[in-house]
Parts: sequence; C-alpha cells; structure tokens
Amino acid sequence: MAAGAGDAEFGSDAGFCRFRDWFGRAAPALVVVLGSGLGEVALRAGARRLPYGDVLPWVTEHGDAVAGHDRCYVALDSPRGAVLYLQGRLHTYEGLDCRAAVQPLAYALQLRPECVLITNAAGCLREDWHPGELMLIRDHINLLGDSPLRGGGDPLGARGSRFVDMTMAYDSALRGLAMEWGGSHPEVAGVLREGVYAAVQGPQYETPSEIRMLRMFGADAVGMSTVPEVILCRAFSRRVMGLSVLTNWAAGVGRAETLDHAAVLGMTHAASTAVADLIEWLLPRLRSEKG
Ligand code: HPA
Repeated sequence: MAAGAGDAEFGSDAGFCRFRDWFGRAAPALVVVLGSGLGEVALRAGARRLPYGDVLPWVTEHGDAVAGHDRCYVALDSPRGAVLYLQGRLHTYEGLDCRAAVQPLAYALQLRPECVLITNAAGCLREDWHPGELMLIRDHINLLGDSPLRGGGDPLGARGSRFVDMTMAYDSALRGLAMEWGGSHPEVAGVLREGVYAAVQGPQYETPSEIRMLRMFGADAVGMSTVPEVILCRAFSRRVMGLSVLTNWAAGVGRAETLDHAAVLGMTHAASTAVADLIEWLLPRLRSEKG
C-alpha cells in the first residue's frame, strides 16, 4: 500500500477542501500536467502557487522531488478561461503505486475541468522522426503493470465504473485542434507527429532489445508516466489530450548515444515555448467547441 492511498472519503477530506478554497469554485477550462522540464510553461505573471504537500502532506514526507518536477499546483486566471497546472508529477518509479502517484491530479479532476492536457518527455522509437519534435498521443500501451483504478472502493473519487473504456482514450477532436495549431505555425507544422506512447516503469532507460520489442508492439515513443493519469481522466469522463516532447532517440535508435536526465530536461526546456503557445491557442477554442 502506498502513501496516502487509503483515504476513504477522497474529495471531502480536509486537504481537498483546502485545495478547492485555494483554487475557487469555478471549474478550470483546462488542467495541464507538465512533464519533466516543462515547469516553466506555468511561470506567468499573476499565477498563484500551492505546493502539493500543503494539501497532501504525505507528498512532502515521501522524499525529494525528481529534478524538473516542482510538485506544485499553479492557477492562472485569464479571460480565456482558468488554467490549473500541475507543475511536476509523481512517478511510480519513486516507489509509489499508480493510485498514489495520481492523487494530485485526482484533486484537480474533482473540479470537473472541461479538458486535460498531459505532457511528458519521451524517447523517440522511429528513425524517421527526430528528437526535438512533438508527438500527439493517439493511443498508449500500459507496461507499468498497474492502474490507478486497481484496488477497492473509490479512493480517488471518480464515482464511475472501474471498467473504464479505453478505446478512444485520447480525444480525437482535441487532437484535431492541436493539428490545426501545428498547421498554423510553420516552425511546428513539419514536426508535430501523432503516435503511440508506451509507458514503462523505469527509472533506468531501456536496453536496445527492449526498444526493438516496443517497436514491434507498435509504439512510437517511450516514457515513464502519463498512462496512469490518462486512465484516471477517463474514469472521471474528462476529455484528454496527450503530448510528448521527443527528447532523445531511444536506446539503439538513430544516432542514439548515452542517455541522461539532464539532456532530457534540456530538450523539454527548449520545447516549453511551443507548449505554452499551444495552450494559449487552445483556450478560446475549447470554449467555442463547448458551444
Ligand atoms: N525512455 C524512457 N523514458 C524517457 C526517455 C526514454 O528514452 N526519454 C525521456 N523519457
């Protein structure tokens, strides 16, 4: 059993009430989970911050954050709609089960956002794509051996069936919007891909043989996150978009050299401007899509 995972009354507990008072009663137009090194996307004038540990104390007790993950909610009010960022995530490779790792997101989903954008850093499995490019996630392969919906009761407050349909987990209309955004930006147009994301446990990077296996499975990118969050969003019936920053060639692919986290962070840092621009572009369109 992982830290914090046993709350019987999730969504009415003191931590959640504090979180909701901090954010305000209105639902966010968009919740954004910022992956490794993308934290600066939320650095905006007027942003309000709340460390996860202030409302989920076990998060602080669990140990230091992974580099590139601040473990902080950031709220940004704008006339285009409020955005709630999760600046940094918890990972299963930190010794948490999926259910605990998604608790900060479960609080955010209780606010019933219109849509959720989940971002990550990922290794590129295709020789015809390149590090530095972006991939909209069309589908995923869960190799974590775990799910946030595993276990008894409804500890994350989704109030839905545990047998969640994942056939169209990644919203095709949202992907269409993102493609439109790509098309209107010459510098992005040729490097915005669509593909399948495989989630592995890590934290070690893969061997070339493992990467060949993932390629045979149909994966285009590999990472250590995102899938538990997408499953949870679907349990809450939220619309989801997934975006990978392809930070490196996966082991044995292309001109793969040795892999390291600092280089991964450098690449996501470079992609931050594009991700921030996509969010700005999406906001008014989410609203008009809602009609
Ligand atoms: N493998 C797994 N996770 C990753 C990678 C990778 O190559 N790059 C960034 N996250």
